[in-house]
Amino acid sequence: MSTAISPTAYNYKVVRQFAIMTVVWGILGMGLGVFIASQLVWPELNFGLPWTSFGRLRPLHTNLVIFAFGGCALFATSYYVVQRTCQTRLISDSLAAFTFWGWQAVIVGAIVTLPLGYTTTKEYAELEWPLAILLAIVWVTYGLVFFGTITKRKTKHIYVGNWFYGAFIVVTAMLHIVNHASLPVSFFKSYSVYAGATDAMIQWWYGHNAVGFFLTTGFLGMMYYFVPKQAERPIYSYRLSIVHFWALITLYIWAGPHHLHYTALPDWAQSLGMAMSIILLAPSWGGMINGMMTLSGAWHKLRTDPILRFLVVSLAFYGMSTFEGPMMAIKTVNSLSHYTDWTIGHVHAGALGWVAMISIGAIYHMIPKLFGRAQMHSIGLINAHFWLATIGTVLYIASMWVNGITQGLMWRAINDDGTLTYSFVEALQASHPGFIVRALGGAFFASGMLFMAYNVWRTVRASNPAEAEAAEQIAVVGAH
Ligand code: HEM
Ligand code: HEM
Repeated sequence: MSTAISPTAYNYKVVRQFAIMTVVWGILGMGLGVFIASQLVWPELNFGLPWTSFGRLRPLHTNLVIFAFGGCALFATSYYVVQRTCQTRLISDSLAAFTFWGWQAVIVGAIVTLPLGYTTTKEYAELEWPLAILLAIVWVTYGLVFFGTITKRKTKHIYVGNWFYGAFIVVTAMLHIVNHASLPVSFFKSYSVYAGATDAMIQWWYGHNAVGFFLTTGFLGMMYYFVPKQAERPIYSYRLSIVHFWALITLYIWAGPHHLHYTALPDWAQSLGMAMSIILLAPSWGGMINGMMTLSGAWHKLRTDPILRFLVVSLAFYGMSTFEGPMMAIKTVNSLSHYTDWTIGHVHAGALGWVAMISIGAIYHMIPKLFGRAQMHSIGLINAHFWLATIGTVLYIASMWVNGITQGLMWRAINDDGTLTYSFVEALQASHPGFIVRALGGAFFASGMLFMAYNVWRTVRASNPAEAEAAEQIAVVGAH
């Protein structure tokens, strides 16, 4: 087969780069997660140094797993999906390459600056202004490449997966730029242009929608492409997917105040956030059901296909965390859960169970196609990875539920004379077994990523990327 690459072939180079870096950053980010989880078990692991302390490594963990691991998975899959569903090559190879190198530069910048203590202190928006500006430029370029490719599509309609990716790209740009508006006082320090309760509201409008659009809407784009593909079934209901899209993006944007219950934020804003969060259950479950029901008539495939298992179990965790979230948004429930490990358990039900599992399934689906192989090097290793990830997630979230409820109840226990029944240290001691189980669960999950790296490496080593692109070229020409 000819290895000459015509301009009609898809740009798989950038997809391959982002896919490989998803695995690399996944190992680093989750490895760091295991390390900080271990610091909570053995505080000596802080080493008495400022740059290895929990307080500095925690934001590095969140930046690495959300933006490096999750971000690379979103770039890889969106570039793959938009080309295949629009049957056209990305609009510009050089702009796509710029998004890859620019994104890696932002991540390296985070790895250097966060342990040194340079931070805006806004959660999930910690990067100081020079990196934040670079991130904004990369993101706008990403938007140009993605939407530019859609405008030159060879298909009549825009596949629903692209709607979700598109909303994720547009809203992330809006959130990042508005929340990061700040006044620099030096190269490494800036102050937010907002003050007081307004600053908090803008930050959690950003923070919640980082969850809603970065960690959810983008991954739903992934779900709408990879679940039907892997199950070899059409999406259960196209009509439901359209209702799902509009309902989800209309509601998510209002839910941020549930992060600020019982604060200086006006009470009506808190109640509005609570009401919108409860309503959010409906579109979230609509999406989950649409994904799950796509398997109608294909459930037997779960017995033999561990990639499909990753995708389906991710939907189960998505359903679980989007049931838990609205419950935690109810003010009375939040008065118990807030500040406790319950929140951390909820976060990782979404982060490990949903975000990481669907990304892993999508990467396993793509790698053979990107590297010209029939399938991954070892299906057995994918299966082992699946069980490590599932058991790891369950250990993580179950231990955090126990810890969270224990902490919440111990903090609010009061003696007859009105004094506190337990000191803070007693609640911490009661949490210690849970911390150990969480670190163990995390180690399970992270070791699964090592299996993945080995499997990907063996698949890539035996590959012929030029043939993969040439095969795609034939597919594109054949489609017309
Ligand atoms: C209907 C969907 C959801 C609702 C209504 C919801 C609601 C909530 C609530 C009430 C909190 C606790 C806020 C607090 O007490 O400070 C929370 C925290 C959080 N949730 Fe969700 N959640 C949902 C889905 C998800 C999903 C799918 C993910 C992950 C992929 C996720 C990630 C997070 C994160 C990262 C936090 C912690 C934020 C922080 O304090 O740093 N949520 N969510
Ligand atoms: C091996 C896997 C992982 C382990 C062991 C781990 C561990 C941890 C630990 C120990 C914390 C700090 C908890 C605390 O302050 O009490 C944390 C926070 C966090 N992690 Fe992970 N993590 C893992 C994977 C992930 C992944 C894949 C994501 C996202 C895709 C993620 C997102 C977060 C977020 C958003 C927070 C902050 C939560 C909050 O502020 O409420 N983690 N993680």
